[in-house]
Amino acid sequence: MAILPIVTVPDPLLKKVSKPVDKVDDKLRAFMDDMLETMYAAPGIGLAAVQVGQLKRILVIDIAPEGEDPDPKYFINPEITWTSEEMNIYNEGCLSIPEQYADIERPAECKVKFIDYDGMEKEIHADGLLATCVQHEMDHLNGVVFIDYLSKIKRGMYVRKVKKFVKENEK
Ligand code: NI
Repeated sequence: MAILPIVTVPDPLLKKVSKPVDKVDDKLRAFMDDMLETMYAAPGIGLAAVQVGQLKRILVIDIAPEGEDPDPKYFINPEITWTSEEMNIYNEGCLSIPEQYADIERPAECKVKFIDYDGMEKEIHADGLLATCVQHEMDHLNGVVFIDYLSKIKRGMYVRKVKKFVKENEK
């Protein structure tokens, strides 16, 4: 396994729409293992393939609380098939927008259809943090990051802070 470099804003790659995966094989699984390792090392609770430079419709998520057993979830070609009318606000962060957070409102629950690590079709009903995380990561597959929901002025401020953070961490 390998830790992959994470793409940060304002990299134009993060604005691109990712392409569906047509085959789940060992090569793809090895890539998903790398994604998971990269996410754990960051550390983060969700990662989309585009964030490590691959425009593939793949997400990895693990929302298990610290100190508990890991619970990795893999989503290939995920599709949201239903969202609740009830909304929820979470203070979201993103590995592509390091050290920055904002309250974002999204549907409180959703259903997601996807292909799993073994190539099997699945559907889950997500609520709480998992629902938020799935929707946040799904946004990445469509070229959207959480700061896109903020005003242009706020977004500019966040991007400047990330640029500064990245520069300082390069030294
Ligand atoms: Ni993110």
